[in-house]
Amino acid sequence: MRIIRSSRTLSAWSRHLHREGVVIGLVPTMGALHAGHRALIRRARLSCDAVVVSLFVNPRQFGLGEDYSRYPRRLRSDAAVCQGEGVDVLFVPTREEMYPPGFGTSVAVQGLSRRWEGERRPGHFEGVATVVAKLCGLARPHVAFFGRKDFQQAALVRRLVEDLSLGVRVAVCPTVRDKNGVALSSRNQYLTPAQRRAAPVLYAALRAGHAAVRAGVRSASRIRRVMRDTIATEPLARVEYLSVCDPDTLEPRSRITGDAVLLGAIRLGRVRLIDNLLVKK
Ligand code: PAF
Repeated sequence: MRIIRSSRTLSAWSRHLHREGVVIGLVPTMGALHAGHRALIRRARLSCDAVVVSLFVNPRQFGLGEDYSRYPRRLRSDAAVCQGEGVDVLFVPTREEMYPPGFGTSVAVQGLSRRWEGERRPGHFEGVATVVAKLCGLARPHVAFFGRKDFQQAALVRRLVEDLSLGVRVAVCPTVRDKNGVALSSRNQYLTPAQRRAAPVLYAALRAGHAAVRAGVRSASRIRRVMRDTIATEPLARVEYLSVCDPDTLEPRSRITGDAVLLGAIRLGRVRLIDNLLVKK
């Protein structure tokens, strides 16, 4: 596995592979790799000839008071994971490499970034869209891999790639969960033992909402109430949002008439957890 730190070298690598007709897969990450990332890398390994994993804690997607400075950074063990998964290139740029002096562009995906995470984390999705556009420009992947756990992010990246004609296929891979149903996230390690015991309540709430739909409930407010009542059984959990949305536009629905997505975010102390569940018609 080659570790590349410079944008110019990554561009040269991808240009060379394009000339050779090699299919490139990109797995963008912020590091602290877990089984969810490994699943993305494996999908990329199966469907692409060459796999590049980027490892960059992107300052632009962290708001004031968020965890940028304490976000876990573990290059050595992340590199070992990538090596073990047969990654070809690990791209580890510095902040200056990604955003050199004079960098003046910010990519905003209107509409999809307005609600839910966008509302609670102002500027977050501009940061994500900007870095993903930049990574696609450098690695020029044929396919980029994202996890479904960040449902809104995946929808937004699909829109970005389409709107800017980036020529990248976006592959959205299933959420990987621990045995209690908690969606894996690098931030789960911030949870105290008590919060860890409380964390499964979010997925339990989404499953209760899903079961209500399966039982014939169509009113979004009733489904939201079912989810809210489940969260209320866990004294440590505070709801940020629980919603029933259109899976493409992420606009709230008042009734379920077709496919929908249940989105949820809770707080356990200072830790935010997000998760979602698709409801197929
Ligand atoms: O999902 C993440 O880890 C990040 O938002 C991403 C896509 C790597 C952009 O920094």
